[in-house]
Amino acid sequence: MNIALLGATRGIGRALARLAAARGDRLVLLGRDRGTLERSAADLAARTGRPEPPVVECDLDRPEDFGAAVDAAFDALGGRIDAFVVTAARFATQEALEDDLEETAVLLRVDFTHTIVLCEHVRRRFEAQGGGTIAVFSSVAGDAPRKPVAIYGAAKAGLSHYVLSMDLRHRDRGIRYVCIKPGFVRTQMTAGLPEPPFAADPDVVAARALRAIDKAAPEAYVPAIWRLVMLVIRHLPRAVMRRVGF
Ligand SMILES: NC(=O)c1ccc[n+]([C@@H]2O[C@H](COP(=O)([O-])OP(=O)(O)OC[C@H]3O[C@@H](n4cnc5c(N)ncnc54)[C@H](OP(=O)(O)O)[C@@H]3O)[C@@H](O)[C@H]2O)c1
Repeated sequence: MNIALLGATRGIGRALARLAAARGDRLVLLGRDRGTLERSAADLAARTGRPEPPVVECDLDRPEDFGAAVDAAFDALGGRIDAFVVTAARFATQEALEDDLEETAVLLRVDFTHTIVLCEHVRRRFEAQGGGTIAVFSSVAGDAPRKPVAIYGAAKAGLSHYVLSMDLRHRDRGIRYVCIKPGFVRTQMTAGLPEPPFAADPDVVAARALRAIDKAAPEAYVPAIWRLVMLVIRHLPRAVMRRVGF
């Protein structure tokens, strides 16, 4: 497969890039900092013994550059991309966001508005190409109203809505959307946060996510247990949710 990855410099995206590179996929890495991207490309080359994957600068807070970045990613892989994967996102705790409205605005732009605008650029290229898979990392945080993720969860709820709705609209025409919903994963994003049950490592999450991307499954909880956990949480009465801390 030819895979474009935005967010492969760290965490789940890096684990996904390593798995895909190890099995022989051709990659292009997109991200906001050229130096970080080049280090990630060198790491993949050292692991696989193959040439460094090409890199393309793309900052999710600079939507004016998205068109050129998406074109450059297609060009870097000879004009064809089979799957475009977005793991890049921001996170901050609810307390931090309530204290800092600037950061709230940036997070909402990056995790919601601009991620969707980027996906729209990719969709147009996929329409011209005759199909493709757009895989977007949302979160279980978007599945139900909860105290600790009111703002981040709102962005992810909107993002999940977009991805799952677009899949309904476009799958018959060959554009498949994959909405990936991790639970708590041990990455830099969650460093210092208390670990809930079912916390997972990025390698495990990336392996399941890659299988979902291969199958173009419309929705994947990673690890799978989170589908059940969120089903239960969605059905708890609000009176209970007001009293508990999760
Ligand atoms: N970790 C969890 O518990 C968890 C749970 C649920 C959902 N998720 C979701 O899973 C995805 C991956 O999370 P993670 O834990 O792997 O995160 P992470 O380790 O914090 O990595 C975040 C990635 O996003 C990139 N990024 C951040 N802002 C960007 C911007 N403005 N433009 C371009 N790239 C940007 C970072 O690039 P730089 O290297 O340049 O900073 C990095 O590659 C995210 O969508 C996250 O919301 C994570």
